Amino acid sequence: MKHHVAIFASGAGSNAGKIIEYLKGHQQISVSLIVCNKPGAGVLSIAEKAGIPTLMIEKEPFFRGNAYLDELKAHHIDFIILAGFLWKIPAALVKAFPSKIINIHPALLPKYGGKGMYGSHVHEAVIANKEKESGITIHYVDEQYDHGSTIFQAYCSIGPDDTPDSLATKIHALEHQHFPRVATETILLQNRR
Ligand code: GRF
Repeated sequence: MKHHVAIFASGAGSNAGKIIEYLKGHQQISVSLIVCNKPGAGVLSIAEKAGIPTLMIEKEPFFRGNAYLDELKAHHIDFIILAGFLWKIPAALVKAFPSKIINIHPALLPKYGGKGMYGSHVHEAVIANKEKESGITIHYVDEQYDHGSTIFQAYCSIGPDDTPDSLATKIHALEHQHFPRVATETILLQNRR
């Protein structure tokens, strides 16, 4: 049986692109849908180039409707990867995909997580606090922001000359290096249970 994965992304989509590339031709897993809430987002052209269908979603049906469960079902989705998706995941979706939604966060959770801690805000806070290291966290998603249990972390050091921008570059490199492999292993693990 093939597993069908949806990637939720609303930004440039570089992580989504790396995951798509990594899973190209995979025997057991296919990236079958890209879910996006931002018209014009970079991830949409990545999806188009890869020939993967996209689903544009809106706030009202996502939070107050059925969270697009019917659409996900129509694409046989059994696992969800959040890669730069900023909306909170509604309870209906968490319930429908128990331990089958993962997220990547550009810091070492539980530090620098929660509402408002996204994108450059994270790196600005890390640098302002003169941290000596930062990193990435890949974790399961529950009903709270950046809260589910941790699957994987990787670290990078911060030097005196680092800025939020240079830190962002280091973090992106770590994400691209680890996320595709860790996501793939987690999909296979969760679907064995
Ligand atoms: C990543 O840094 C990820 O950690 C965060 O959003 C960013 C997405 O970048 N959640 P991209 O769109 O994959 O380039």
